Amino acid sequence: MILVIGATGNTGRLIALGARAAGAPVRALVRNPSKATDLAAAGVEVVTGDLDDAANLAAAMHGVEKMYIVTSPDLRLAEVQIAAITAAKAAGVRHIVKSSVLGATADAPVLTARLHHQAEEALEASGIDWTVLQPNSFMQNFIGFAQTIATQGAIYAPVGHGRVSHVDIRDIADAAVVTLMTPGHEGKRYVITGPEALSYDDAARLIGEATGKGVTFVDVPPDSARQSMLASGMPAWFVDDLVTLMSVVYAQGYGTTVTDDLVRVTGRPARTFAAFAAESATLFAGR
Ligand SMILES: NC(=O)c1ccc[n+]([C@@H]2O[C@H](COP(=O)([O-])OP(=O)(O)OC[C@H]3O[C@@H](n4cnc5c(N)ncnc54)[C@H](OP(=O)(O)O)[C@@H]3O)[C@@H](O)[C@H]2O)c1
Repeated sequence: MILVIGATGNTGRLIALGARAAGAPVRALVRNPSKATDLAAAGVEVVTGDLDDAANLAAAMHGVEKMYIVTSPDLRLAEVQIAAITAAKAAGVRHIVKSSVLGATADAPVLTARLHHQAEEALEASGIDWTVLQPNSFMQNFIGFAQTIATQGAIYAPVGHGRVSHVDIRDIADAAVVTLMTPGHEGKRYVITGPEALSYDDAARLIGEATGKGVTFVDVPPDSARQSMLASGMPAWFVDDLVTLMSVVYAQGYGTTVTDDLVRVTGRPARTFAAFAAESATLFAGR
C-alpha cells in the first residue's frame, strides 16, 4: 500500500492517480474528501484526516509500505511533515518519498526552502529508506498569470532577466511514481527540472505563439509586486518568500539549473514549456 499525503493538491493528485493507474494499491489522507471524488472514482482509498491529528496519522498508516509526502507552502511545513515521518516510523513504513524544492538548504534565502531542508534532515535521520525530489518552479504557476495574459497580453513579475528551468508538474508526478514503484531510488536526491532555462521574456513569447496573440513580460519593482500580492490577501510571510524567490533567487540566476535526473529516473525527456503553453492555450487566451 502506498500512502499519498497531499493528494488533493496539484502534484499529489497526479501522483496518487499515477500510482493507482500503474496498478498499486493507493491510499490518500485528505482533509476534505469532497476534493477527492476523482481519486475515489479511480480506486484510491480515501481516508479523512489532518497531519495535525496523531490519531488520524496512525490510522492512515495501517498496512502502508511506502509513503509520498507533499504539503502546502506553510510556516508549519517542517512541523507537519516531521509529524508524518514520525508516525510512519512508528507504523513500520519502509520507504518515504518526499517532495521538496530546488535549493533546499539550511541557509537558503527563501524560508520555504529552509523548512523543506529541515524536513529532509528529519527524514534522513529517521532510519526509514528515503528519496527526495527537488523540483524547480512549476510551469503550471503561469496559470496564475492567465487573467492578465488574457485581458492585457501581459505577465507581471519582479524577475528581471532571470532565467528559470520551469518543470511540468506531470514530470514530477512521473518521477515520483517511478521512485515509489521501482527499487533502486533509496538514499537518492533528484533535482527535477525542465529541459531548458527560459527567461520570462521567453515564456511570454512562447505563450504568445501558442495563443496567437502577443504577450509581453513586464518586469515590476519588488515593492510593487509585494504591495499587489498583499492586496490580494496573501499572507505577508509568503509574499516575502515569493518576492525573494523571484527578485533575488531567479533574478540573480539561481533558478537556471538543468539536470538529467528526470531522464535517469523515468527514461524519457522533460516536457517543454512550448508544449505546456500549447496545451494551455485556451486558458491563456481566456476562451
Ligand atoms: N509551486 C512551485 O513552483 C513549487 C516548486 C517546487 C517546490 N514546491 C513545493 O511544492 C509544494 C506544493 O506542491 P503542490 O502545489 O502540489 O501542493 P498544493 O497544491 O499546495 O497541495 C498541498 C497539499 O497538502 C495538503 N495538506 C497541507 N497541510 C495538510 C495537513 N495539515 N493535513 C493534511 N493535508 C495537508 C493539502 O490539503 P488541502 O487540499 O486540504 O489543502 C494539499 O492536498 C510546497 O511544499 C512547495 O514548497 C513548489
